[in-house]
Amino acid sequence: MTIEERIIAGVQEAVKTLYGLEATAQQVQLQKTREEFEGHLTVVVFPFVKAARKSPEQVGTEIGQYLTENLSDVVAKFNVVKGFLNLVISDAPWIALLNDINANERFGFQPVTEASPLVMIEYSSPNTNKPLHLGHVRNNLLGSALARIVEANGNKVVKTNIVNDRGIHICKSMLAWLKWGNGETPASSGKKGDHLIGDYYVAFDKHYREEVKQLVAQGMDEEKAKQEAPLIKEAHEMLVKWEQNDPEVRGLWKKMNEWVYAGFDETYKMMGVSFDKIYYESDTYLEGKEKVMEGLEKGLFYRRDDGSVWADLTAEGLDEKLLLRSDGTSVYMTQDIGTAKLRFQDFPIDKMIYVVGNEQNYHFQVLSILLDKLGFKWGKDLVHFSYGMVELPNGKMKSREGTVVDADDLMDAMIADAYEASKERVKQTEMPEEEAREVARKVGLGALKYFILKVDARKNMLFNPEESIDFNGNTGPFIQYTYARIASILRKAKEQGIEIPAQLPTHIAISTKETELIQKLNQFSVTVRQAGIDYSPSGICNYCYELTKEFNQFYHDFTILGEQQEDLKLFRLSLAKAVAKVISLGMRLLGIEMPERM
Ligand code: ARG
Repeated sequence: MTIEERIIAGVQEAVKTLYGLEATAQQVQLQKTREEFEGHLTVVVFPFVKAARKSPEQVGTEIGQYLTENLSDVVAKFNVVKGFLNLVISDAPWIALLNDINANERFGFQPVTEASPLVMIEYSSPNTNKPLHLGHVRNNLLGSALARIVEANGNKVVKTNIVNDRGIHICKSMLAWLKWGNGETPASSGKKGDHLIGDYYVAFDKHYREEVKQLVAQGMDEEKAKQEAPLIKEAHEMLVKWEQNDPEVRGLWKKMNEWVYAGFDETYKMMGVSFDKIYYESDTYLEGKEKVMEGLEKGLFYRRDDGSVWADLTAEGLDEKLLLRSDGTSVYMTQDIGTAKLRFQDFPIDKMIYVVGNEQNYHFQVLSILLDKLGFKWGKDLVHFSYGMVELPNGKMKSREGTVVDADDLMDAMIADAYEASKERVKQTEMPEEEAREVARKVGLGALKYFILKVDARKNMLFNPEESIDFNGNTGPFIQYTYARIASILRKAKEQGIEIPAQLPTHIAISTKETELIQKLNQFSVTVRQAGIDYSPSGICNYCYELTKEFNQFYHDFTILGEQQEDLKLFRLSLAKAVAKVISLGMRLLGIEMPERM
């Protein structure tokens, strides 16, 4: 039984004995004692006042006395403030708890079993006409953190990605490459494949706008010019050929997409994200058409005179939604229906989470209704994990103008900055070059990941590289540094031949600050659970930061290796070890690696 469970049982017993009241465990409200009062846990006594027919203060005092007498191994002291009974927990249960934390490799996590629900999480979902950018970085970090958090809460998780590999945008890159590429390849140019294709996408746009400008100068209306420019017409012809399975166009498409995937893989690897199953729109859009036709037959959708197929969602308070164009071609929504179909065929999905930017809120509102109508059992409750835009201080990202913040460049820059910042320390510690590079990778990426994940996902944000890498403050490197400091203490202990026992004796007298630190460690379980309920990686960030700060205060006030009393020294080492472990468990949920030295 946990400390909380024992107190709840104790209070139930107390009110039964004292007032003849049968209270359920739910009626016993237990909270963490507020900072300004003495105590660890607080019992709210108001629910018992009526049955007791006494003042809240009296009831609190009576229950407090009962607990100190009958639960003396847990409750050491108490005080009553209005209707709140503040309990000071004795040292032994805290030490026992610390022992438990140290013994449990998956402390704070729920087990995943055969019977666990299956949650599919989609994130990343790039288009193959350009490399990943800062927005994708936020998406990937949120998605993969969410996947780990959901799994830590006892769910089977399938991480998935839907790659938009077909459409007019890809044809633009292909066409530009044919026109101006001179057969350039990733190998011949030394460029990553996704960057190479992205460059041709930009080139297309540049030439295209030039054409539009000329047509407008010749007196054509701008809207018309945008449609009449030879380049866009040619791109459309290419798309038609693609749809007709033209071998040449398909061959080029395949070749160029392969280049892009090789590039994406590198980016994903550096970012530390992965997928269990990747879907491609070129495979799913036809399935979507089929599913829409099925819905049409069932009378869920209707056909207009021009042949187009629509869903009427006015009863749901939304508008009418196009599902198939009059020429029979599919739209974005059609593809998503097809993807859902394939996914549901492949996995017994209980819950589906889509990590997609908030500019698509309406799309997912509609998708949920459509999937529900079409009989997907998870459709109605699908989760659109909707996140806000991320920008760098120098303005909005715009890929078409070629000023996009590239994901690879950003990660490289972060790692380079971390390396630069570590130079002095590296000299002092005589860290080998190879390790220094590896530490810089962990710290640079840790800075980036933490800074992005600590912000409430729904909010727009500014990524500030300088601030993110600051060693003081609410940053990844601050937490990593504390972890490395603990690792160094533990190394020194080992060098001194000190062995930290797996189980400490529980009779050691410890201070309030120490018991509070154990209590903070214990909160990790609740934090993980709450993050799973709220889908909130930022909750984990906050917790890691608070734990780190509390440890640093403790470390400032107490000596560890310098402690003369042997059992106390072992206790503090054990406490430090548990802090390092919980920090790393938390940070690992965020995808952040911990350096053993910094
Ligand atoms: N590729 C799309 C885009 O870049 C995002 C896809 C989101 N996922 C989905 N199932 N619709 O806008």
